[in-house]
Amino acid sequence: RILVLDFGSQYTQLIARRIREAQVYSQILPCTVPLATVLAYRPKGIVLSGGPSSVYDKKAPSVSKQLFEQGIPILGICYGMQLVTHLQGGEVEKAPHREFGRAELTLDDRSDLFKGIGTRGSTVVWMSHGDRIERMPPGFRSIAHTENSPIAAMKRHDAKQRIYCLQFHPEVAHTVEGATILKNFVYDICGCKPTWTMRSYVETAVEQIRQQVGTERVICALSGGVDSSVAAALTHRAVGDQLTCVFVDNGVLRTGERDQVEKTFASQMHLNMRILDRTSQFLTGLKNVTDPERKRKIIGRLFIKNFEVESKKLKGIKYLVQGTLYPDVIESVSFKGPSATIKTHHNVGGLPTRMKLKLVEPLRELFKDEVRVLGQELGLPDEIIWRQPFPGPGLAIRVLGAVTKERLAILRGAETIVDQEIRAAGLYREIWQAFAVLLPIRTVGVMGDQRTYEYVIAIRAVTSLDGMTADWAKIPNEVLGKMSSRIINEVKGVNRVVYDISSKPPSTIEWE
Ligand code: XMP
Repeated sequence: RILVLDFGSQYTQLIARRIREAQVYSQILPCTVPLATVLAYRPKGIVLSGGPSSVYDKKAPSVSKQLFEQGIPILGICYGMQLVTHLQGGEVEKAPHREFGRAELTLDDRSDLFKGIGTRGSTVVWMSHGDRIERMPPGFRSIAHTENSPIAAMKRHDAKQRIYCLQFHPEVAHTVEGATILKNFVYDICGCKPTWTMRSYVETAVEQIRQQVGTERVICALSGGVDSSVAAALTHRAVGDQLTCVFVDNGVLRTGERDQVEKTFASQMHLNMRILDRTSQFLTGLKNVTDPERKRKIIGRLFIKNFEVESKKLKGIKYLVQGTLYPDVIESVSFKGPSATIKTHHNVGGLPTRMKLKLVEPLRELFKDEVRVLGQELGLPDEIIWRQPFPGPGLAIRVLGAVTKERLAILRGAETIVDQEIRAAGLYREIWQAFAVLLPIRTVGVMGDQRTYEYVIAIRAVTSLDGMTADWAKIPNEVLGKMSSRIINEVKGVNRVVYDISSKPPSTIEWE
C-alpha cells in the first residue's frame, strides 16, 4: 500500500483517490502519527500532502527526519516539497509572486516520474502556493521549472533513497497529466501492481467480516440509503441469515420509500428484514414541535428506542453494522480538529455504546464513489446505488414549523413531482440533492375565477461533491417551469412555487 501523510491540504483525499483509481490501495494518516506507526504499515511508498502552513510557522507540522532514511520512496507535494527541502538542508522562501492556478511546466528530465509526460516538452499543471524553493538540499536536482518557479520539481535518486518533489498538485483534474505522474510514482518507483479492484475488495471484506463475527448474530439499521444498503448487502454476503436488518417507517418518509426497501432487500435479495410501522408514534412525538433541533432529537430518540426494543426481541445480538465511510474516519482523526456543530446530524450515533454492541464497519476504507462500484459488484439496483442523500429526520425538516399529516401529504405530492422531473430531464445523477420544502405560510392566488389562499412550496436543488459546500443547481428554466405548473395543478393546497438560489455557505442545503 501507499501511505499519504496529511498536512491539512484540501486535496489530500484526492491524492488517495487518484492512487486507488490506479488500482493501488492507499490510505491517509495524519502527519502527526509517530514514525513507528508509519513503518508498521510497511508502505511501499509515502506521499507528503500539501498544506496551508509555511515551514517557518512556529507550529508548522513536520515529520521525523528519519522518515527520509528508510529507503521507502517519497513523493512530496507542495508543502510536502517545502518540508523535504527544509528538513534536508535546503532553503524555502516567500516567492515574489504567489502562484495560483494554471501554469506551463517545462520538463527538464523526462525519465521515471515524468516518463511519458509532456511529449511537447511541457505540460499544464495546477499551482497553489506562496512559498517556493530557493536552494535545493544536497543530493537533489531540479527536474522541471515554470516561469515563476525555477525549481517546480526536484528529485534525489541515489542508492539509499529516492525522493521526488512537486511544487504543483498532480492530484487535481486541472493538472492534465497528473494521473500519469502518480501512476509513474506508484508503479515504476514504488513497484506497486494494479491489483486493488472492487472484486478483490469484496473477497477480502467478506473474509474479514466472517473472521470478526464468527457465528454471532448481527443487526443493521437499514435506511435504504447507499451506505447502509451496501454495508448490509456486503455483510449479508459474508454471514447470510446471521444478519437481521431493521427498517423503521417513521412517518416522515417519501412516497413509496418503504415499499422499495421491502421489495429490494426482502423480496429480491432475501435479507432478513424487520419492517416496523411507527408512523403514529413519531407523528405524535412531533406534534406541535417547531424547533428543528428538537425535531431531530425526538426522531433520533424514538428511532433508538424502537431499534433497541426490536433487537432485544431477536436475542443474543453482538454486532451492529454501520455504513461509516472513509471520509468520516479521516475527519475524526484529522489533525485539523473537529468543526463546530451547525446541525446535529443523527444517523445511528449513540446506538453501539448504549446497546453494548461491537461495530462492523465494512465500508470504512472506501470513498463514496467506491461504495457505488461496490454496490454494483454486489448486484444492488441502480435506484439504490444512485440514490441522492436523504436526511435521517426525513420530511420532518422539510415541513417547516409544525409537522402535520396534511402538510406531509402536500409535501409528498410536491416531492414526487420534483423527483420525477429531475429524472426525466436526465439531471438526477449530476445534482447532489433536489427536493421540495413546504413553507408554513399561505399566499393569495387566483384559480379559475376564485381567490385561493394556500401554501408555498420551495424547490431546493444543489450541486456538491460532499455536502459540505454546495451551489444552487442551474436547472433549465423549462424544467423549473414544468415542476411549478405540475405542483400547482396536481397538488391540492399549493398555489405558489419558488426556487431557492442560495449557496452553502452561507445557507445550508436543508432549510431546517
Ligand atoms: P445541511 O443542511 O447541513 O446538509 O447543509 C448537509 C447534508 O446533510 C443532510 N442532513 C442530514 N442528514 N441527519 C442526516 O442524516 C440530519 O439531521 C441531517 N440534516 C441535514 C442534508 O440532506 C445534506 O445532504
